[in-house]
Amino acid sequence: MSIRYNEETKQFILETDHTCYQMQVDMLGFLHHLYYGPRVGQNDMSYPYRIYDHGFSGNPYDMRHDRAFSLDSFAQEYTSFGVGDFRVTSIRASCSDGSRCAEFHFTGYEIKNSKYEIPGLPSVYDNGDRVQTLILSLIDSAANIAVKLYYGVFEELDIITRATEIINAGTEIVWLRKASSICLELPFGKWDMVHFYGRHCMERQAERVPLFHGIHTLSSGRGMSSHQHNPFIILCDHAANEDSGLSYGLMLMYSGNHKIEVELDQFDSTRAVMGISDDRFRWELSAGTSFYTPEVILTCANGLTELSHRYHRAIRNNVVRGKFKLSHRPVLINNWEATYFDLNEKKLLSIAEKAKKLGVELFVMDDGWFKNRNDDNAGLGDWVPDLKKLPHGLDGLIEKVNALGLEFGLWIEPEMVNEDSDLFRAHPDWALSAPNRAPMMSRNQLVLDLSREDVYKYLYTTISYLLSQYNITYIKWDFNRSMADVYSRALPSSRQGEVSHRYYLNLYRLYDHLTREFPQVLFEGCAGGGGRFDAGMLAYSPQIWCSDNTDPISRLAIQYGTSFGYPMSAVGAHVSASPNHQTGRLTPLSTRGIVAMSGTFGYELDLDKLSPEELEEMKEQVKRFKEIEPIVHGGLHYRLSTSVDSRHYVAWQFVSEDKSRSLLNIVVTNPLANSAPVHVRLKGLDDQAVYSVNGEFECLGSSLMSAGYTFPQLTGDYPCMQVDIIQIK
Ligand code: DGJ
Repeated sequence: MSIRYNEETKQFILETDHTCYQMQVDMLGFLHHLYYGPRVGQNDMSYPYRIYDHGFSGNPYDMRHDRAFSLDSFAQEYTSFGVGDFRVTSIRASCSDGSRCAEFHFTGYEIKNSKYEIPGLPSVYDNGDRVQTLILSLIDSAANIAVKLYYGVFEELDIITRATEIINAGTEIVWLRKASSICLELPFGKWDMVHFYGRHCMERQAERVPLFHGIHTLSSGRGMSSHQHNPFIILCDHAANEDSGLSYGLMLMYSGNHKIEVELDQFDSTRAVMGISDDRFRWELSAGTSFYTPEVILTCANGLTELSHRYHRAIRNNVVRGKFKLSHRPVLINNWEATYFDLNEKKLLSIAEKAKKLGVELFVMDDGWFKNRNDDNAGLGDWVPDLKKLPHGLDGLIEKVNALGLEFGLWIEPEMVNEDSDLFRAHPDWALSAPNRAPMMSRNQLVLDLSREDVYKYLYTTISYLLSQYNITYIKWDFNRSMADVYSRALPSSRQGEVSHRYYLNLYRLYDHLTREFPQVLFEGCAGGGGRFDAGMLAYSPQIWCSDNTDPISRLAIQYGTSFGYPMSAVGAHVSASPNHQTGRLTPLSTRGIVAMSGTFGYELDLDKLSPEELEEMKEQVKRFKEIEPIVHGGLHYRLSTSVDSRHYVAWQFVSEDKSRSLLNIVVTNPLANSAPVHVRLKGLDDQAVYSVNGEFECLGSSLMSAGYTFPQLTGDYPCMQVDIIQIK
């Protein structure tokens, strides 16, 4: 049993194979957080807590004479609000009498032998694992607000998931102003925060900063999880590195606006609150109804590598669904960087024909295939083929692509509309935009108001028509702007604060419906590259286009940052042209190859412009990728270079779960003259096993992990090398 309750001490103990989480209900019914960390046996983890007399911190009424008893200094599972805890709060609400306070007292618990689900939202699912759910109920009887805290304890995965249900237990409306998913307290310790910031074409750059006193806020108000701040952070010991040191991961499974607040308080205690952003959020919670927050996936590990491995396994096995979850992903060719909008059947077929000869399996037609779509000014919303470009229609093209022996995939951007489209002319009120203002344009497009039921139905009908009418086995689902003037004409003025979240509830519903109805289709998420690269999207699209930046050298940093939370099987990566279209950089085909092979492999360039030698090299790459895919997508990923090394080179490694095979990769980013040899220590091998290293020599796993491997000197423009390490004894 992974969840235990000690009636006498009123303590809850949650255990996974290597971690433990403890909470305790005090004599007034407040729910304290005691501990989250490595397993501690049966130990009662209330012992480190001593409470001191703290001036200026409020004292609950029943303890008004005890100046040490204050919510302002207790570690809590989910905070009360407006009652003397002045730190970042998990919840804020206003009641019909205008009061804005509630203190939550424990009322009961329930333990289930399966994983809870969250109505309308994706969550980590039970995959036949050892998993239990704990539900803790709390209430404020004056405000009549009840809270249910859900904990999913996945023993083998070493993850604990959390979500919250907020219930209006009264008879009057309650206005929710903030409804975070979790509060996680780290009452002791000095922590660094690793977070993943960026911009379009430069997503998920890992940045590590020591916490200072005050509140650190990372958020997205862009209507998507965003290029700017991924909804994932790591809090780790100052001394933690890849191999050791207490490290906590907090990953929000949500694709819309989010907020992460980490406060290092006056008493040196750290509190992290994470969930839907409260900026512009206001939810009308009518009597008897519930609001469910998105889920947070927590893990605690010894070192950053172990932490990443836990997320990789959980996402691969318990987040991603359907046929493509663990199976082969087709090697694809996408025409975007080959043609942009200037596509036609002849050109596409010529690329497809060449791609087939390389061993490519799927041809993807990107943006520009539908009516009036000659640039980004028009067409979004009208998902019918442009017969000038595709004279034989979609069927004609698909038939020919299929006849070449390739599957067919299609790009769509269903959530968007251009003003210059039949859809917008028929339904101008379907676009999000504020009244009495010119709509905020971005890439000349508007966002459809998916919080509306009619828009939901239109999108379902349109996409299911495409998927049932044509032989399409892959969809690239794009989303190319942030949401700004979020206003729905279908909701009254008092409920505009609900639109963004209602949008995502319907987006998930749409994805859920389509993925169930069309299980043969592989969905690849995309939002101008990796603007919606999050665990929520991964529940429906097993892979996500990682970035619109296809330059392999830029990709090294993007894929490095992405790897902290997300498995390589989720990382959409293609070989593109040199000079690269985003950076103008020249790189060898081999380097573009090994970087793209560390994700879901494909090509995105004009094959008609390549030499026979280049085509021959690509053929070898495709063959190679098919051979190494199981270890790249199913194995363990190790980051071998630090930020200091990466000024010179970036190295990373894959190891199969059974340790019988490994793949060592290096790209030299800055060849140095007369330099010391590049030397790395391998990781994750079986120390007793003998491995063949690139067929050049044989070596014990323990030697490769302690004495390491020295690369030959690699010179020239961004050279690379991939080393095969195969167990022979
Ligand atoms: C942004 C995507 O990330 C690109 O790959 C491409 O599909 C364009 N949109 C098309 O408009």
